[in-house]
Amino acid sequence: MSVKTIAVVTAGGDAPGMNACVRAVVRSGLALGLRVLGVRNAFEGLVGGDFQELGARDVGGIIQRGGTVLQTARFPAFEKPQVQQAALAVLAARGVGALVAIGGDGTMRGAAALDRLGFPVVGVPASIDNDVYGTDIAIGVDTALNTIIEAIDKLRDTAASHRRAFIVETMGRNCGHLALMSGIISGAEMILIPEQEVGAEEVAAAVQDAYARGKTHAIVVVAEGAKLGANALKTKLDALRTGFASRVTILGHVQRGGRPSAWDRLIAARFGVAAVERLVDGGSGVMVGLQGRSVIATGLVTVGGRKRDTDLEYYRMARMLAK
Ligand code: F6P
Repeated sequence: MSVKTIAVVTAGGDAPGMNACVRAVVRSGLALGLRVLGVRNAFEGLVGGDFQELGARDVGGIIQRGGTVLQTARFPAFEKPQVQQAALAVLAARGVGALVAIGGDGTMRGAAALDRLGFPVVGVPASIDNDVYGTDIAIGVDTALNTIIEAIDKLRDTAASHRRAFIVETMGRNCGHLALMSGIISGAEMILIPEQEVGAEEVAAAVQDAYARGKTHAIVVVAEGAKLGANALKTKLDALRTGFASRVTILGHVQRGGRPSAWDRLIAARFGVAAVERLVDGGSGVMVGLQGRSVIATGLVTVGGRKRDTDLEYYRMARMLAK
């Protein structure tokens, strides 16, 4: 293969496990005889030429750290053709022959743009939202879910002590995955997600029913992208008198931090190695991802234009288990 130097970038919202993936890219790149540069501060840093050569020791002690040591940023200007051309010029000047781009759907769109311009790039999905098409799960989702259920377990303690209903808002942008999965595994009475509209009356009926059946508390998980938001829902539940007094907890960015789980570290390692191996084999224009037990590759063009579907079978299951 002709590529001698590759670069690795983390972009978009940070996700736990990004560091484990950077480490995997660096260590596998070195093992395959490549020079590896880290791009600091996402695509903005790439255009600005903010690179750092990474040796094996430079990525020591980061496997267990949340966030990204390369730092990240949202950089909408990367959609502009002249900015993409500027990026190509910088990559050429630094002698970089290929790029591994770690991030969510916005990052994959940026990666697809570079590939269209003829620059070899392979994407790695990392976003707590789990909305990236082409993979069963992205890096960071599992850790975020563990953070959410730990918080809900704690809220349940105080909810049960006061006989209250807690409305818990999770992240996920326009995707209900985090709310739906965390709702199931924390035993929520009701889950509101963007993909499945539910009225306040229906939520109130479920909460009232929980009260009537002698439950000491009720948990309602609301995705940040749900049509009926957490605070609006509280106002309506209070007006509809469910029996429980209610409180709202917005979990927010706490869901993005923390030590990556065992699962996230493992897929970070698998994806990082697979991405480098693809580039070494002359591959480009794909994102690696997980399908069942296998690491697969999906065209970046397909990934960039679509959103991973939320399986509504889980929604049916959640309603059944809440009784
Ligand atoms: O995409 C990850 C995410 O955390 C979303 O769940 C959320 O909507 C968004 O990023 C928040 O973005 P920011 O950190 O830029 O406020």
